[in-house]
Amino acid sequence: MLTKTILAIETSCDETACSVIQVNLWGEPRANLKVRVLSSVVYSQILTHRKTQGVVPEVAAREHSVKIIPVIKKALLDAQTVLKCPKMSIKEFISKHIDYIAVTTNPGLFGSLLVGVETAKTLSYLYYKPIIPVNHIHGHLASVLSEKLTSPTGLSRKAQKELFPMLTLTVSGGHTNLVLSKKLGDYQIIGETLDDAAGEAFDKISKMLDLPYPGGVEVARMATEYIDKIKISELRSQNHNLELRFSFPRPMLNSKDFNFSFSGLKTAVYYQLRKMDNRCIKIMQRYICYEAQKAIVEVLVVKTMKAAEKYQVKTVGLAGGVASNVFLRKTLQDQISKIKYQKLRTVNCEPRTDFLVSPKNLCTDNATMIALSAGIDLSLRRNISSWDKVVASSN
Ligand code: KG4
Ligand code: ZN
Repeated sequence: MLTKTILAIETSCDETACSVIQVNLWGEPRANLKVRVLSSVVYSQILTHRKTQGVVPEVAAREHSVKIIPVIKKALLDAQTVLKCPKMSIKEFISKHIDYIAVTTNPGLFGSLLVGVETAKTLSYLYYKPIIPVNHIHGHLASVLSEKLTSPTGLSRKAQKELFPMLTLTVSGGHTNLVLSKKLGDYQIIGETLDDAAGEAFDKISKMLDLPYPGGVEVARMATEYIDKIKISELRSQNHNLELRFSFPRPMLNSKDFNFSFSGLKTAVYYQLRKMDNRCIKIMQRYICYEAQKAIVEVLVVKTMKAAEKYQVKTVGLAGGVASNVFLRKTLQDQISKIKYQKLRTVNCEPRTDFLVSPKNLCTDNATMIALSAGIDLSLRRNISSWDKVVASSN
């Protein structure tokens, strides 16, 4: 068995993150892999960007450059503690124990990516460690497999046979993708957003309602509060001249492809808000969040289920920041349970469609998912570069 240790760096947007993992590889050609996470440090810039209700790219890059070394240092010290190494300097630890440096190279904010990439290149050059460049989306996709990869048996070849073909919905602030994987490390985009990403829609609706950044969590919280306690009758009794029960469009719900579009939804919310005065918006904002969330989730779930059916996948995965949305997780889970049940009844065979969702701490940006993707690349013996071949790119 081969054991390799990876130091991974993620700075594509507004989280400065570093993780150290150990990967065990065995079998020919290294088809089985098992991961142990030694450390994971995430510094979130949320409080900085709350002031501007969104990420200002230059501010994000500047903050990455301040935090990157302390974050890497902490991840290395934590890993050293877990490994119970004899006392040694961080430099010695890198030389002796780190085999590869993984780093997010694309897509993302160019200035932010540059901080992580240049730091990784410097470490690679100084310590003679090869780089594994990682696509950020591949990181989100790998996060769905984290429980399998870190399980006592790891992601063996046999386990991979049961898992694939797999369809993963990746929903984040920058992306909304449906990705078909016929085998480990295979990524075929079968659908994507034509304009705003799902997370972006959440964030923009939140901003229109003057809720704090980042918007997804706030919209989800308000929607839950609506379900729990709002009384629409309160408003009705105040005699507002307003259509009370409105809903928002489900863009591209019935299109024949697996693409998405969320900019129309954002515009619909904007026009609805224009019809209302501030007091009315205040009273109705939980209902607006509830309806907007319902519209976004319905489109995501219906399209995912159609694609799962078409490609007869064995597993449906859910990843990205928006995957931490409880309503989305639950709705998708319910739909998958239904097809499982139908198959069981009609075909009278073992249900085949499983649901895998990233653990909550790996939904929003982190470096563990980047390390996991690099571990998959190692098992496939691909994507290993020297520092001078690695470049950051916003696409
Ligand atoms: O994956 P991520 O950390 O960054 C990108 O790669 O973009 O995702 C961040 C996005 C933001 O748009 C944020 O509002 C959204 O994920 N988000 C949520 C929730 N938590 C985070 N959206 C809906 N519901 C949530 N609970
Ligand atoms: Zn992300």
